[in-house]
Amino acid sequence: MRIGFFDSGVGGITVLHEALCQLPAENYIYYADTKNVPYGTKSKEEVREYILQAVDFMAGEGIKALVVACNTATSIAINELRRKYSFPILGMEPAVKPAVENNCNRRVLVVATPLTLQEEKYKNLVTKLGHAHIIDGVALPELVGFAENYVFDEQIILAYLNEKLGCFNLKDYGTVVLGCTHFPFYKKVFQKLFPVDTDIVDGNKGTINYLKKILTDNKLSTDEGLGGRIVFYSSGQKEPDDCRYNNYLKIIKP
Ligand code: DGL
Repeated sequence: MRIGFFDSGVGGITVLHEALCQLPAENYIYYADTKNVPYGTKSKEEVREYILQAVDFMAGEGIKALVVACNTATSIAINELRRKYSFPILGMEPAVKPAVENNCNRRVLVVATPLTLQEEKYKNLVTKLGHAHIIDGVALPELVGFAENYVFDEQIILAYLNEKLGCFNLKDYGTVVLGCTHFPFYKKVFQKLFPVDTDIVDGNKGTINYLKKILTDNKLSTDEGLGGRIVFYSSGQKEPDDCRYNNYLKIIKP
């Protein structure tokens, strides 16, 4: 059986890429809700409906585990999904905890979608850590659109980030947390903008480490020979031509 990866669009490809590296023997279904992307600027109720529909479809295709490779979808529906389905479901949240712990008291900048930052799940996470005074959150919704439209021109991205982050003293930040799975595509651009000793982190490695553990603990790891096959779906339609998604997989490669 395959492992499902779900995102509003191409962001989850950054997480799938990590899975292909760490779990090459597994096979995958990737579902991008291309009809409804972006999620991060829509209402919670609307996004919840989209998620339930997409995961229902994936469950029907037969998956042994699901990675909700989307911070926004996780904050809206992860508990509901876990109640509904019996297979293991992993979510993603901005990696604020390790950022605060390894940060030597410098400031932490969390960049994510508007919906992720306004949700209770994120607010509780920050409050629980007890370091709210050093954590700043900035919504960067247009970065999702850039990734969806395959805009990787460094000058365009730098201009956008400069405009959005211009009022912050970037030297103050020890860590930037990429709290949206679309953002790791632009990791190098973030690194250019911030001092060299600022860490730009995402939750992708941690999520796949955890996926590995969940598969082992539940005796779900595959023992078949042929792995690394991916079937791509765009809002319920099987992609006859995987070219678009494979291009994204290529650019995330170091
Ligand atoms: N990739 C998603 C996330 O991690 C959401 C992007 C969007 O659809 O707005 O939050």
